[in-house]
Amino acid sequence: PLVSMTDMLNKAKSEGYAVGQFNVNNLEFTQAILQAAKEENSPVILGVSEGAARYMGGFKTIVKLVESLMEEYEVEVPVAIHLDHGSSLESCARAIRAGFTSVMIDGSHHPLEENIELTKRVVQMAHAVGVSVEAELGRIGGQEDDLIVDDAEAAYAIPEECKELVEATGVDCFAPALGSVHGPYKGEPNLGFDHMKTIDGLVGIPLVLHGGTGIPTNDIKKAIEFGHAKINVNTESQISSAKAVRETLAAKPDEYDPRKYLGPARDAIKATVAGKMQEFGSSNKA
Ligand code: G3H
Ligand code: ZN
Repeated sequence: PLVSMTDMLNKAKSEGYAVGQFNVNNLEFTQAILQAAKEENSPVILGVSEGAARYMGGFKTIVKLVESLMEEYEVEVPVAIHLDHGSSLESCARAIRAGFTSVMIDGSHHPLEENIELTKRVVQMAHAVGVSVEAELGRIGGQEDDLIVDDAEAAYAIPEECKELVEATGVDCFAPALGSVHGPYKGEPNLGFDHMKTIDGLVGIPLVLHGGTGIPTNDIKKAIEFGHAKINVNTESQISSAKAVRETLAAKPDEYDPRKYLGPARDAIKATVAGKMQEFGSSNKA
């Protein structure tokens, strides 16, 4: 069924695993992620950035697509459709109206008080219709679609501010910046585990790790131990799908049927996503 993130994340946190948010970019991504969730018997969050929604034909198109595919594939695991890095109250409202079951309001570029005010308003609107909300504090580095944060801006979130935001807003899960980066890492990721532990102790609700691509398994395990119940992955699926397209077209330079090169891309995404579900511990937790 289509559900909000609340129950799946609370269960994950209490049982010590994380649910993956896998971003959709097109039809094949959506198919692959739902197929992987079904085969792994795993709960799943479909992440939709505003840029991806524009590309795919709008929020409504994505909701209808997901609903149809779930019916066609007989997907019975819990699935959330989540607005990733929502940039405004209006954008969250449009996603909710289109049938999204969850939204992120990313007020992290605002001063703390403004971030709190904005997030509070989104929570009021979303909770009234059973939609879950994720908030962010501190800047997560790197680039994802329209969102670019340079290294100097990216900093660890301040624990006391995290506590204040979570308590004042009533969000369902929370993404503090802790050194993770969108897109490929330049060198090894440097996650702030001391900060993470402190923030987890102060806020209590499920934490969200953005920039899940390229984080070593050991760090993933530690992040889950220190309160993370949601891990976002996009770039890694994009890399594996692009590699499959390149290999297919290199082996058959005369190929022109999209099904012949996007089919292998879809299989590659599915394998990447299934591997993450196993790594995060969400397989067989539906
Ligand atoms: O919001 C989406 C994620 O944080 C994706 O990060 O592309 O580095 O895997 P990633
Ligand atoms: Zn992100």
